Amino acid sequence: MEYRQLGNSGLQVSTIGLGTNNFGKALFDTGLDSDASVAVVDQALDVGINMIDTANSYSHGLSEEYIGRAIKGKRDKVILATKVSSRMGEGPNNAGNSRVHIMAEVEASLRRLDTEYIDLYQIHWWDPNTPLEETLRALDDLVSQGKVRYIGSSNFAAWQACEAAWTSKSLGITSFVSVQPRYSMMDRAVEKELVPFCQKYGVGILPYFPLENGFLTGKYRRNQDAPAGTRLASNDRGMFTDENFDILEGLIAFAKARDHTMVDLAFSWLLANKAVSSVIAGATKIEQVVSNSNAAGWNLTDDEVAEVNGILGAN
Ligand SMILES: NC(=O)c1ccc[n+]([C@@H]2O[C@H](COP(=O)([O-])OP(=O)(O)OC[C@H]3O[C@@H](n4cnc5c(N)ncnc54)[C@H](OP(=O)(O)O)[C@@H]3O)[C@@H](O)[C@H]2O)c1
Repeated sequence: MEYRQLGNSGLQVSTIGLGTNNFGKALFDTGLDSDASVAVVDQALDVGINMIDTANSYSHGLSEEYIGRAIKGKRDKVILATKVSSRMGEGPNNAGNSRVHIMAEVEASLRRLDTEYIDLYQIHWWDPNTPLEETLRALDDLVSQGKVRYIGSSNFAAWQACEAAWTSKSLGITSFVSVQPRYSMMDRAVEKELVPFCQKYGVGILPYFPLENGFLTGKYRRNQDAPAGTRLASNDRGMFTDENFDILEGLIAFAKARDHTMVDLAFSWLLANKAVSSVIAGATKIEQVVSNSNAAGWNLTDDEVAEVNGILGAN
């Protein structure tokens, strides 16, 4: 396993991370129960993955609970990233990025994760109703209290991440070291603004949906039934179009010609960008953790990246 610094911070994270929005069944019918989640985390740690990403809201806290069980006695091997912002109750202060919500939710996350600290505490969504300074000062207090070690954002537009960097700097308080956007070969919207911002200011990128919900593994084929029990079998999420299969088939041929799998290509293409610190991929089986962890060894040349971008076209 290779490790990279998370942005300009001193933290070393595995280039392949483990996503856990499928721990519990609230988001996907292919979600995992407690034992299966623990097995996936065990396997991830065994292959050298240290970056584990969750959120307070995943399966209403069950994802954090299962991770807490899985890392018992192994806390020092894990870089634990979780998130706050999503609605967690009916009350007016049970969502968003206010000081009151953050302070309540960090305690709930620490309890569910059964830990004394969170390595990376991420703001899940921009909150238009809370002054950014209030959010950043609350996070800075958590860092001072030792409950949180680093802070990051998720789903921020480039101007929002830039405003946060500028606000922290002018106040002399803790800054976000990372962003977590949706980013894959099939969804490159962040390349226009957010990626250049991160490259210029040394903010680490943690792409989510790197496999586009499994489409970029190559296990879904044109005019064939989706493999039973997979995420896109019950809902293709708009992926099974002729245009998308044209691209996928081009990518599979490119990878195969170089003795690599489609999974290798999906991860290596993202990691060719040095601002990408860790690619956050979910897994439903321990074999998937193993193949994902092997994917990072392929260092694409600039020419290969250009060729792949040619296959992707305007996508
Ligand atoms: N910040 C945010 O707002 C946000 C939003 C979404 C996700 N995330 C984070 O990003 C993580 C990654 O997203 P994701 O897990 O939903 O999407 P993903 O990585 O694009 O897809 C993961 C799914 O693909 C399949 N898969 C994975 N590895 C495979 C392999 N080697 N071979 C075949 N199939 C494989 C598995 O589903 P099947 O076995 O069912 O096919 C797995 O659950 C999440 O877990 C979460 O931590 C963050």
